[in-house]
Amino acid sequence: MADTTVAPATLAMLGSVPLFQSLNKHQVRRLAETAQERRFKAGDIIVRQGDKGVGFYLILEGEAKVERAGHPVASLGAGQFFGEMALLDDQPRTADVRASAAVRCLVLSSWEFWAAVGDEPEVLRTLLKETVRRIRSAPAALSE
Ligand code: CMP
Repeated sequence: MADTTVAPATLAMLGSVPLFQSLNKHQVRRLAETAQERRFKAGDIIVRQGDKGVGFYLILEGEAKVERAGHPVASLGAGQFFGEMALLDDQPRTADVRASAAVRCLVLSSWEFWAAVGDEPEVLRTLLKETVRRIRSAPAALSE
């Protein structure tokens, strides 16, 4: 059985993440209990461009670089998320995400992610807004 003990710091972090701002304490706790915590070393590839997307990642600690076709496109830190694009359109990953320092993440499977936020319009709106911003920031590369 999964360990459902959630560190208070993790709960506080989740509660303060803009994406989950509209969730109540109960929903935040459930999200934290459902997610798996994973750690990556500097240099590890966390998701790989072209792979099937099965998870959504929220960075709790550390920094990751987003690289498309080997070119850096963004840097993500604590409180930011990645892996949403392949979950939204059920298509392969659009980029590599590589840990540039030790990274601690919360990971939700696609199913867990949709079960937790699929009926939360504010979360979906924030998610879509950020996703569109990301697509706008690299239109040529994404349409390749
Ligand atoms: P996904 O395509 O599932 O996997 C790679 C992830 O990199 C992608 O979801 C986004 O979360 C992230 N990503 C892609 N492009 C950008 C960008 N321009 N800025 C920030 N993150 C991005």
